[in-house]
Amino acid sequence: MLLRNVVFACLALSGVAHGDERWWSANEDRVFPAELSYPNSSGVMTTLNEKGPTRTQGHPFFSALGTNGRACVTCHQPADAMSLSAATAQERWRATTGKDPLFAAIDGSDCPSLPQEKESSHSLLLKRGLIRVARPWPPRASDGAVVKPQFAIEVVRDPTGCNFDPKYGLKSKAPSVSVYRRVRPATNAKYLTAVGFNFDPKNGLPLPVDPETDELVSGNLLADARAPTLFAQARDAMQSHLQIEGKPDDVAVKKIVAFVQGLYTAQSVSMKAGALNDGGAQGGPKTLMAVRGGELQGGPQPIWLEFLPWLNAASNSSQDEMRKSIARGADLFSKRMFLVDDSMGINNMGFGNPVRNACAFCHNMLRTGMDVAPGQVDIGTVNSPHATPAPELPLFKLTCNVDAPAHPYLGRVIFTQDPGYALTTGKCADIGKITAQSMRGLASRAPYFSNGSAKTLRELVEYYDRRYRINLTEQEKQDLVNLMSVL
Ligand code: HEC
Ligand code: HEC
Repeated sequence: MLLRNVVFACLALSGVAHGDERWWSANEDRVFPAELSYPNSSGVMTTLNEKGPTRTQGHPFFSALGTNGRACVTCHQPADAMSLSAATAQERWRATTGKDPLFAAIDGSDCPSLPQEKESSHSLLLKRGLIRVARPWPPRASDGAVVKPQFAIEVVRDPTGCNFDPKYGLKSKAPSVSVYRRVRPATNAKYLTAVGFNFDPKNGLPLPVDPETDELVSGNLLADARAPTLFAQARDAMQSHLQIEGKPDDVAVKKIVAFVQGLYTAQSVSMKAGALNDGGAQGGPKTLMAVRGGELQGGPQPIWLEFLPWLNAASNSSQDEMRKSIARGADLFSKRMFLVDDSMGINNMGFGNPVRNACAFCHNMLRTGMDVAPGQVDIGTVNSPHATPAPELPLFKLTCNVDAPAHPYLGRVIFTQDPGYALTTGKCADIGKITAQSMRGLASRAPYFSNGSAKTLRELVEYYDRRYRINLTEQEKQDLVNLMSVL
């Protein structure tokens, strides 16, 4: 009871929005303050807005720029760490009997050709928080050039019908592959776009380059890295999710990107551990904002440095116990070794197969747990045989061409729920590689993984435990969950 009171006192201090204000609609006249907090099941999530209070009216991030009534904020909600949880989608369905622009036919339904008034036509958004992403076939590189794919694609089954659809499917006039993905948080952009090295340390090759500016880019945006920069991403989102008519307006794009670049989101209070920047720890979004460019890079040091001081917390109370558990989770994340095997993007990069390492081997960027080297890795979340079976998602059969090199671990015939990075590069070796996300804001944006296959952080840990046969103890699992619940 006492801890709850502490949380609510903190909420009162930081000007938390209440009940009806949780949802941000397009075209509202509100103020996005310099600091905005919302409660979640593990405490309080806070977003800092570096540019100071921002009026939403007329601001392109908050305006319905296209024909479907949506703004960027429709899917990137402050209460959900600038992402969108499945629970919020369900709440919104109930509150508006499915009329909210969030459920727009184009990608807020399983397929635009389904009867839109039916709840079942939006099942993937409601159950898993997934948005339809239609990728052109054959693939296009990030500069729009057609790529000759190294594989053929067939649809094995598709309960949404969309990949078979005469207008939207693979055999339509504008052939496209429909995959279903979680909304990635539009915040902490400094980290999303951080260029840690001027080459990809995994393979020694140069980093991808922005075709517009010739500048090196992080290669870490979106599940399939189809957009090299936040600018390209904003234009893509305007055309796809917002359904704008004509070309994206440059002034609007610049304003949107400038706004996103000023946002920092992290859990600030834990119901059980108290303020996350107390007792020597430096959790919360202020640290994210303060960190300078050169300090983003990962390395041999533990990446969740901000929680390690709690390893030495006293053991007088349940609050201390939680603090210690979080710190142990931070420690385990870098030190608990296991064998990473058959994971394209890692094991084929000269590290050996298997390679003995820890979570932080892939999640190596300080304070956000992204991969400093572009993070396209196949950890099995979408590819057979490791993917969690998902009868509600499409299943594709990809057959590598005879003149292309076979996939070293999966052979020539690969079954996948989402070809991932291969939808951008057309390469057999890239099938099912998904870009590692930022790990911030997790407590406000379940479910997890790009296909929403882990309902909870516990399920996510269980996935890794199975996938890499780690044999985590019950205590280790709980420590990792506790760490992730305060990021
Ligand atoms: C219909 C919901 C929806 C709307 C509206 C929307 N987005 Fe997104 N956004 C997504 C999804 C889904 C992804 C992840 C897609 C993927 O991984 O392929 C995403 C990803 C992003 C990312 C990448 C973050 C990362 O870590 O890679 C940024 C930045 C972003 N959106 C910004 C915007 C902006 C700016 C707008 C408005 C112009 C916008 N979004 C509108 C659904 C939406
Ligand atoms: C071999 C590389 C690799 C290792 C090792 C690894 N991860 Fe990941 N992780 C990824 C990739 C790639 C993704 C994106 C996968 C997806 O979305 O389908 C990811 C995603 C995640 C996410 C993001 C979930 C979300 O939806 O935003 C979390 C949290 C996470 N991993 C935690 C862990 C933990 C805990 C461990 C150690 C037990 C770990 N990872 C080990 C590569 C790795």
